[in-house]
Amino acid sequence: MPLDIVVGAQWGDEGKGRIVDLMAAEADFVARYSGGDNAGHTVTVGEQIYRLHLIPSGIVQPHTTAVLGNGMVINPVTLLDEIARLQQGGIEVTPQRLRISYAAHLITPAHRALDAAQEQARGPDQLGTTLRGIGPAYMSKVGRYGIRMGAMLDLETFADAIEMQVKICNRRLTRLYDAEPLDPHKVALEYAEYARQLAPFIGDVSVMLNQALQLEKRILAEGAQGTLLDLDHGTYPFVTSSHPTAPGAILGLGVGLGYVGRVIGVTKAFQTRVGEGPFPTELHGEIAERLRGTGDQPWDEYGTTTGRPRRVGWLDTVLLRYAVRANGLSEIALTKLDVLSGLPALKICTRYRAGDREFTELPLGPGDLSPFEPVYEELPGWDEDIRDIRSWNALPLEACQYIERVEDLAGVPITLISVGPERSQVIRV
Ligand code: GDP
Ligand code: IMO
Ligand code: MG
Repeated sequence: MPLDIVVGAQWGDEGKGRIVDLMAAEADFVARYSGGDNAGHTVTVGEQIYRLHLIPSGIVQPHTTAVLGNGMVINPVTLLDEIARLQQGGIEVTPQRLRISYAAHLITPAHRALDAAQEQARGPDQLGTTLRGIGPAYMSKVGRYGIRMGAMLDLETFADAIEMQVKICNRRLTRLYDAEPLDPHKVALEYAEYARQLAPFIGDVSVMLNQALQLEKRILAEGAQGTLLDLDHGTYPFVTSSHPTAPGAILGLGVGLGYVGRVIGVTKAFQTRVGEGPFPTELHGEIAERLRGTGDQPWDEYGTTTGRPRRVGWLDTVLLRYAVRANGLSEIALTKLDVLSGLPALKICTRYRAGDREFTELPLGPGDLSPFEPVYEELPGWDEDIRDIRSWNALPLEACQYIERVEDLAGVPITLISVGPERSQVIRV
């Protein structure tokens, strides 16, 4: 089937951008379907590193058409900046190559101000959001006072709509949070300029994608965030406000279920999380520092969007099995295996324990993981640097054993193994 979906199987930053870049070689369209500029996806081609927040990573492959679907929330400042940076880097971003759904929603500075005010008001219960205004923009959408990208096509009514929405947000800012209101007129003027620049990119993406599917063109849906950050299926309330799981692609692009082919879950060979919330296999101390790195390397565990150090831990296959189920994964792409090189022993969480009971599946989903303690299985590590290895047979025996054990525990095949950030550093199984 011509629609493949790449989805994060953990808490985001699994290396989705890196895997999408590989798979986009065979795709005609690459489409983001959820989230906004809370995402940060990295693609490395030779010495060149591309960091993308809104535009799908597949744009780096020159033959693709990039799509921003209706499930997204879009900050036009970030988008225009990203277009300009890509152009400067020699990547063509014309209205033919980049299509934006008229039904995607806009993020304004009022949403960002609300994000900060809401976080501050939570005090010690902060979620650790990216402060990009994502939650408040989806609140406007669900509250039915959101502004869609299509509104940018009629400048006369657009300015009024922006003013009205900023006024609504201002009432929340001042009355609920004692925060400073924004100047609605100033925001409207600024946004009118963005509308002029973005209008040529806006259209009916659903029609375009459905026509393409009927012609058997290949579409790759690029997930942002990850399964455990899904509003319904994640570690609620420590989640984002959209649906990063695979079904989100159907809703967030306006395509039919019947077209779905492969659903590829991307997972690191260990576990990371940025922001607050439960993390049963979290590590502190020496091994954590090894896994996180010091920030010297571009792939060290510091957030692509916010620069925050990521929390790190052993791979949790209770949560991985949950991701297989929540997404209907057909396969897994395993990234950052190279980072495990040199650790004498590796642990995999196979199940949870609470009191004298053990669980291989979550009894009540991942919302409250506090009753559980991870139960580990220990495997031998390997010393070899594996970054230049390109075939399964050349991998150290211990690395093969680790991968096979993860595959067994996940219950779906691992079809791609990434041993470095660069496009060529991959083993296809
Ligand atoms: P995404 O949000 O899922 O696209 O992931 P990010 O780009 O935020 O974070 C993944 C980081 O790991 C980026 O710096 C990638 O370049 C890097 N990366 C991806 N795969 C590998 C890998 O196999 N090995 C190493 N060392 N780095 C990788
Ligand atoms: P990519 O696509 C990692 C996290 C934030 C916070 C929570 C809610 O690069 O994998 P939000 O700003 O969305 O309201 O924050 O979600 N988060 C991410 N963590 N990678 C991401 O995207 C993330 N997008 C949001 O850190 O914990
Ligand atoms: Mg990221």
